[in-house]
Amino acid sequence: MEVNAERVNNMYGSFDNVEDYVSFYTRKHNLDEYLNLIKETKEAIDIPVIASINCITPDEWVEFARKIEKAGADGLELNMFIMPNDPKFDGPTIEKIYFDVAENIQKHIQIPVALKLGTYFSGLAKTFIELSKSDLSAMVLFNRFYSPDINLEKEEIQATHIFSNPEDVSNSLRWIGILSDQVDCDLAASTGVHDGNAVIKNILVGAQATQVVSAIYRNSSSFIKNMLMQIEDWMKKKGYEKLDDFRGKLSQARATQPMMFERAQFMKYYSNFDDSEY
Ligand SMILES: Cc1cc2nc3c(=O)[nH]c(=O)nc-3n(C[C@H](O)[C@H](O)[C@H](O)COP(=O)(O)O)c2cc1C
Repeated sequence: MEVNAERVNNMYGSFDNVEDYVSFYTRKHNLDEYLNLIKETKEAIDIPVIASINCITPDEWVEFARKIEKAGADGLELNMFIMPNDPKFDGPTIEKIYFDVAENIQKHIQIPVALKLGTYFSGLAKTFIELSKSDLSAMVLFNRFYSPDINLEKEEIQATHIFSNPEDVSNSLRWIGILSDQVDCDLAASTGVHDGNAVIKNILVGAQATQVVSAIYRNSSSFIKNMLMQIEDWMKKKGYEKLDDFRGKLSQARATQPMMFERAQFMKYYSNFDDSEY
């Protein structure tokens, strides 16, 4: 299936003015730095290096991806997000762009590709299950976006907190739990993974991997050691030798309370509300 670049360029505006050219030029220079970072990292460490780029239009990422593969990356994550704010475009039109990218990925590069996705899909389960049947190796649930807040003093729009909170992990727990037994590719959890317990929880619902960003920014990369120790301690206590021993044990298909993944209302909670629980 051919990627319809014209349609997407219409959605994003074409690169025909100075500002767009400057932004493209800046990105190219950032890319050169990024390619060097991949090469240096590959030389310095023994674990796989997964590169990550933002996919703004279906065509633009291809050139970047080829260079990233050549630089030695073992895998590529494509952060793909189309803000569904333009009333001219309905859900299927926007979703088709994700499918066009997913179905074309392996025509351009050999290394495995993961698509990092947001939550703005009306038929999320069906869309993600269909996406998983394409060439994708994995999907990352979910990206966390730069979002608006209001400064009441200045009465201005400003960015909300850049870092996530530990409670944010529930979104990936819900959807990885619902989808992990239904998709044809790996699922990785992202957003709100702030300690080893959050890693364990995501693996229990079926994640193959978890990503950590805010916790590392807040605590430095040495914090990963603490997370690993927490995971190892828990596994020892429970008698698990490897992650696969408990991976997916609490997915929706296998959990004893599968409805907990679908429950959305607080009504029952409030009808039994007890101050001491809070
Ligand atoms: C300082 C900072 C910079 C980020 N830059 C990017 C970026 O360039 N592209 C992107 O797709 N996500 C970016 N993210 C989002 C992270 O990749 C991740 O999706 C998000 O922080 C949620 O994960 P966390 O809860 O572990 O922080 C950034 C996050 C932070 C905190």
